[in-house]
Amino acid sequence: MSLTRLQKEVVDWAIDCPLTTLALALVGAGWLSSYVLSFARMLVDLARPGIPLSRFGAKKGAWAVVTGATAGIGRDFALQLAGAGFNVFLASRTKSKLDEIASEITAKYPQIKTQTHAIDFSAHDADYASLKQALDKLDVGVLINNVGKSYDEPMYFQDLPEQDMTDIVEINVWDDDLMLSRSSPSNATLKCTKLVVPGMISRKRGLILTVGSFASLIPSPLLAVYSGSKAFVSTWSQALGSELKGTGVEVELLNTYFVVSKLSKIRKSSWMIPTPKTYNSAVGSVLSKIGVQGGAVGQPHISTPYHGHAPVQWVVDHLFSRAFWLGYNRKLHLDIRRRAIRKREREAAKAAKAE
Ligand SMILES: NC(=O)c1ccc[n+]([C@@H]2O[C@H](COP(=O)([O-])OP(=O)(O)OC[C@H]3O[C@@H](n4cnc5c(N)ncnc54)[C@H](OP(=O)(O)O)[C@@H]3O)[C@@H](O)[C@H]2O)c1
Repeated sequence: MSLTRLQKEVVDWAIDCPLTTLALALVGAGWLSSYVLSFARMLVDLARPGIPLSRFGAKKGAWAVVTGATAGIGRDFALQLAGAGFNVFLASRTKSKLDEIASEITAKYPQIKTQTHAIDFSAHDADYASLKQALDKLDVGVLINNVGKSYDEPMYFQDLPEQDMTDIVEINVWDDDLMLSRSSPSNATLKCTKLVVPGMISRKRGLILTVGSFASLIPSPLLAVYSGSKAFVSTWSQALGSELKGTGVEVELLNTYFVVSKLSKIRKSSWMIPTPKTYNSAVGSVLSKIGVQGGAVGQPHISTPYHGHAPVQWVVDHLFSRAFWLGYNRKLHLDIRRRAIRKREREAAKAAKAE
């Protein structure tokens, strides 16, 4: 569409007008400085210490409860919290593995008490009554809601086995009780939190830290159920954190990008993909950064404190569109799926040859 002479004159006048130039420059400078300030805020956050663990009862006889404590991130949380001076309550599925980690803690920190509790959080009849009985006797200062389940490999929703779908929702979010809208929210994350929050409120101190995932930051195609379950705990953590404001109980959703583990199926670490030990203990990482938002700039009760993960979240939150990131994640998971299928085919061929 061509402009009339009058329209052209108006446009030329606006471009030439110093006021227009000034206004455009101000808008541009404001937009740019909001990005610069947000990035600077993340850098400052990464350099400052978090709330000291003594606020939650470290070295004062308090207990840290860790779910999914026998492997990966949870196992290292247990070791680090014992090192920080918490007695440690270890809850996981396999009794022998629990005993192993408890012995390791006792050997390393003889003054630290441990208790183990074998429970399958995916079971419909998981015995929360006996878990409650055990926890009620303890001064719980910290709860690490770490247990989680993901897919065996990225796959389309319609292909996800029903049992996997139920287990992911059951462990990461809720169980049948909640799905059927019965009274109490009952699952590993919600239920364990419900068991310890009243005691924390009465003692006016506590930390509820739930391990979240970048799968909730950007929806993850081919991991749709896992991604949705992590979005649930993210929203829930922010709401709960606000509810508990002023009670002395800190709530934090720990946003996690890839970490070397059985769940992620990644074996080689890098700057962006740390081992659980590096993730929990390195300077600038999780336990020294409680209450620090890091890469989750301006998002209350969410923390991305690990120096290799924080810039990734900042970039995702500030650059490009949601559609771009959704497409990026789709490509990433299609690629992981292709490689998983190829690996399976190679292994099947090898097994057939060996027969
Ligand atoms: N690794 C990553 O890249 C990554 C990224 C983002 C978020 N996350 C989140 O981080 C958390 C930990 O992941 P991870 O990679 O450390 O996992 P992991 O290495 O696979 O460890 C899982 C732990 O959970 C326990 N567990 C699994 N199913 C259970 C069940 N049904 N009942 C009771 N305990 C059960 C396991 O105990 P047993 O061995 O005794 O069965 C083990 O101690 C999860 O919430 C995950 O979503 C991980």
